[in-house]
Amino acid sequence: MSNDIAATPPTIFRKDYVAPGFWVDTVEMGFDLDLHETHVATRITMRRNHDSAEKDLVLFGASLKLLQLRMNGVNLKKNAYTIDGEVMRIANAPDEVTLEIETLIKPLKNTSLSGLYASNGNFITQCEAEGFRKITWFPDRPDVMAKYTVMLRANKKKFPILLGNGNLIEEGDLGDGRHFAKWEDPFKKPSYLFALVAGKLVCQEENYTLKSGRSVLLQVWVEDGNLDKTQHAMDSLKNSIRWDEERFGLELDLDRFMIVATSDFNMGAMENKGLNIFNTKYVLANSRIATDVDYAGIESVVGHEYFHNWTGNRVTCRDWFQLSLKEGLTVFRDQEFSADLVGTTTGRAVKRIEDVRVLRQVQFSEDAGPMAHPVRPDSFVEINNFYTVTIYEKGSEVVRMYYTLLGHEGFRKGMDLYFARHDGQAVECDDFRAAMADSSGRDLTQFERWYSQSGTPRVKAETTYDAETQTYQLTLSQSCPATPGQDEKLPFHIPVAMGLLDAEGKDIALHCDAYSALAGATNLILELTEASQTFTFTGVAAKPVPSLLRNFSAPVLLDIEYSDEELGLLLANDSDPFNRWEAGQRLATRRLVKLTKAVQAGETLELDSMFIEALRATLVNESLDPSFRELVLTLPSEAMIAEEFDVVDPQAIHTARQFVRTALTQHLRAEFLSAYEANLTPGQYTPDAISMAKRALKNLALSYLSAWSDESTFELAQTQFDEAENMTDRLAALSALTNFHGTETQANAAAQSLKKFYKDFKKEALVIDKWFMLQAVADTTDVAKVRELMEHKAFTLGNPNRARSLTFSFCNGNPSRFHAADGSGYALWAELVIELNKINPQVAARLARSLDRWKKYPLHLQEHMKLALEKVAATKKLSKDVAEVIGKALAA
Ligand code: TRP
Ligand code: ZN
Repeated sequence: MSNDIAATPPTIFRKDYVAPGFWVDTVEMGFDLDLHETHVATRITMRRNHDSAEKDLVLFGASLKLLQLRMNGVNLKKNAYTIDGEVMRIANAPDEVTLEIETLIKPLKNTSLSGLYASNGNFITQCEAEGFRKITWFPDRPDVMAKYTVMLRANKKKFPILLGNGNLIEEGDLGDGRHFAKWEDPFKKPSYLFALVAGKLVCQEENYTLKSGRSVLLQVWVEDGNLDKTQHAMDSLKNSIRWDEERFGLELDLDRFMIVATSDFNMGAMENKGLNIFNTKYVLANSRIATDVDYAGIESVVGHEYFHNWTGNRVTCRDWFQLSLKEGLTVFRDQEFSADLVGTTTGRAVKRIEDVRVLRQVQFSEDAGPMAHPVRPDSFVEINNFYTVTIYEKGSEVVRMYYTLLGHEGFRKGMDLYFARHDGQAVECDDFRAAMADSSGRDLTQFERWYSQSGTPRVKAETTYDAETQTYQLTLSQSCPATPGQDEKLPFHIPVAMGLLDAEGKDIALHCDAYSALAGATNLILELTEASQTFTFTGVAAKPVPSLLRNFSAPVLLDIEYSDEELGLLLANDSDPFNRWEAGQRLATRRLVKLTKAVQAGETLELDSMFIEALRATLVNESLDPSFRELVLTLPSEAMIAEEFDVVDPQAIHTARQFVRTALTQHLRAEFLSAYEANLTPGQYTPDAISMAKRALKNLALSYLSAWSDESTFELAQTQFDEAENMTDRLAALSALTNFHGTETQANAAAQSLKKFYKDFKKEALVIDKWFMLQAVADTTDVAKVRELMEHKAFTLGNPNRARSLTFSFCNGNPSRFHAADGSGYALWAELVIELNKINPQVAARLARSLDRWKKYPLHLQEHMKLALEKVAATKKLSKDVAEVIGKALAA
């Protein structure tokens, strides 16, 4: 069911927005659910929107068989409407219309996982962004909000559970082996929030009392055999409900809230009203199958989807160009939720560092490539390609900047005004900005550029100190590189949180000319609004060390020249934990870049003692949270190092990084061993912040220790693998064993452990995904090995999680092997994209993006990449999803 297209698919522009010609008041639907042929009857009451330039009644449909179309009780003749692609137009419709539509759809044949599809014999829907049109003809656009009543009918044995949006108002038998359930959603919603689920499912449920005293029913639905894995999702849901009440005064508006887990899902999860549908990866957990990272992922995704109930559902998007209105804001909310749950200052900083790492590694890269787009795009070919890190993560940073500029209370006031103005409406990013501006009285006109201009801004910092007048000057200059369709950029409104450190590393009381009202503060938020601005600080007794962009106060690249000594001072002392970590990363990056060049030049590699000692001091500093130490000791990824180069040499980067890991282990072996011993977590597994932090540091130590072949560290990893009581420790040990560069005997033992792991967990799909992933990213895994793993009986491209676990992990997570000199990695990539394109265009288009940055590689690799890109481009029946990504890459 791919969107087959012949020529270049059309581009949709934001500027072409026209309000719908008709509003919808009510939607009644009846489903006769059958896996082969499902019959859908829909009655829609509509009324003309006299304010619209659109005079026709417009409906969208895709992959539908139309059985009946009646308007106001009369069958519509073939000449009363036109169908062009997905668009049906009925001209001369009266002002008040009741449409009755009957369609036939084929869930079993639907491998796109959009619309109504089958998963392990159950029915699942996914309607965002444009999946509802695969169920019935409808004005399937987010600004058309209506009330839905849905009747589900199905065989009772095969489909004992029938779920819909909102409240269950009636259920019963139909007498013929079938039964029914009638659901009514009391809130108006856009069609993309429609959902139904039917099949054999079991649930963990609980009555939960809201702050107001009202009791609500919470359910987590899973396939049989998984009820021992739902507790964490349920806990996360209750935490989410409580958090939104406390932090934003937002209450659950339904009497019932359901989460359903499915193993066939294109993304993480979906916020359908009252009936969230999740990828099993973000629901199922117990200590046997899930790692600490999985537990954290579940918490934040459960939070994310729950928070959409207000930011996305009650207030939704006018059109899909406004996607970040709901996604950026909801990511900000889920990030704050996870940070608040940990509570401590370091805990919050750790969460912030993890989020910024993703932003820099993935979003900055997107912003520098052919798919770069503004947080509020101006155009797209396929909206599914715009569920991006720019919309989500950069969008969240944009929301965070309001929070930084307006403060905790100020931001809350803005949110309150946003809901007071727009509850029940479909609005734009500008409406959110207006609520923030009007509630605070601040002029946020220039702030709009964060929505309209793509690319990552660079801020350059230059300083001068005059001992005589005790004056320190900080000059900040901003620029932003050209991006597709945007050559010239105007200055952004950039909040730069900062402080100055004295020679002991203590914060200095600040006296800045531009912020005299805040004299004496040790942390200031400078507002950079011009291309270049100079901030003058007086009463500075000695030349300070600046700490800029504290807590990463804006999504920019900061150019500043620090000496190693200054970075050492910041790493050891900055009162801002984010910038302590940042200083360590700067020290590491500097060395990794130099060493990469040394590898290319064939020079001997050396690691200096200043760096080793700075890391040693952090590693042994027990006053620091173990998770913070783990982050400081983690070297920038190969992808991050690559960003430092104009021309990327993946193998040289890999060699340099491996060298630093080995050198650190040689020098810090004793310290890593004691960190290992000191951070064991004996006893029953709990996913609490302290135990998770300990396991993170302990397993990082293990991974370092296994970077330097040695009999005793191999034993350590083997013992941990054999005796592990939880998946976090077991997987970390298996990874250490697999990546151990040791003897043949050790390699054989590692292979045995991999086999045993598979055997022990072959019934747990999510664990087998980890098994594939671990091998996909191992530096011994080349293209031939990936092809061999693709032949494994447990591998299939038909399931997105499984496809991602091996092929995506290899193409995106194993750069030194993927970029093999002979181009074999790209040839594999092209085959995979072409194959996936037939099965699932959305998933295919994600993989297609692995070659986005092809222009950053040496010419001989570029040639191979171009061939691979052209091979995909020449494929027949290319979905518009893949066509857009490949087209933009080739145009770069
Ligand atoms: N709105 C979902 C979220 O919260 C995203 C999503 C889930 C989605 N499934 C999808 C988007 C399928 C497009 C297609 O992040
Ligand atoms: Zn979302």
